[in-house]
Amino acid sequence: MKQITMGTNTTGIATSPLDSKKLVEFAQAVPPSSPGSEADAAAVRIEYARGSGTIGSVPPPASLKGMAKAAGELIQGKRPALLVDKLGERLAFERSGTRLYEAILAKFDAEGGFEGGPTRAELEAIRDDEIRHFAMVCRAMERLGADPTAQTPGADVIGLASSGLLSVAAEPRINLGQSLESLLVAELADNDSWRMLIDLAVAYGQDEMAAEFRIAEQHEMIHLALVRKWLSSKLALDARGQPSTTPQRAA
Ligand SMILES: [Fe+2]
Ligand SMILES: [Fe+2]
Repeated sequence: MKQITMGTNTTGIATSPLDSKKLVEFAQAVPPSSPGSEADAAAVRIEYARGSGTIGSVPPPASLKGMAKAAGELIQGKRPALLVDKLGERLAFERSGTRLYEAILAKFDAEGGFEGGPTRAELEAIRDDEIRHFAMVCRAMERLGADPTAQTPGADVIGLASSGLLSVAAEPRINLGQSLESLLVAELADNDSWRMLIDLAVAYGQDEMAAEFRIAEQHEMIHLALVRKWLSSKLALDARGQPSTTPQRAA
């Protein structure tokens, strides 16, 4: 297993006390290379936020059955677009979750596990749960007459928010233990998001959907408990100190 070791990291200012003194003096003597302030930057952001459009839209239902439902038959007078948007968001995240565990499995195969860490079977089981969740949301959308292949605004937002998680899991210099941090963030979001989606489904009178989603919520609680356990084991192992088995690159 790749270990965290002391190495030739020169990113900190303390590496060279002489140069750092000169650098501080220079920074204090010379004004910023471009004019403006934080307030100016905020003003530009506000201008962009007001002037830009929205991040996509929810497509209208594709089927006649869906249109009847969207018109309010089963949606109890609420805006169908909101439920479809949040379903699309969940769909996107569960798909990413599957890919996240696939990437972690590759690291497991490259390095092997560690004491108190995940087994291959556990990682596979969670990956399979995430695929099932994806399929579950897919079916729920189809029952509403919505198109699960459409990228909804919520899917865009969560895709962007979680893009760093996949980068962590796929980066080969980040070891298995470090990659588990991405699982923690994903599973925390998974837990909260399912709970909110269940509340939304109930508010829309979709009791069957809510009941099905509660099963996924149960899975997510187990996922989170496992990831927390693995991370704690990893920390305890690292604190005890293990000899490095892989050469480390300088930062
Ligand atoms: Fe999930
Ligand atoms: Fe999960």
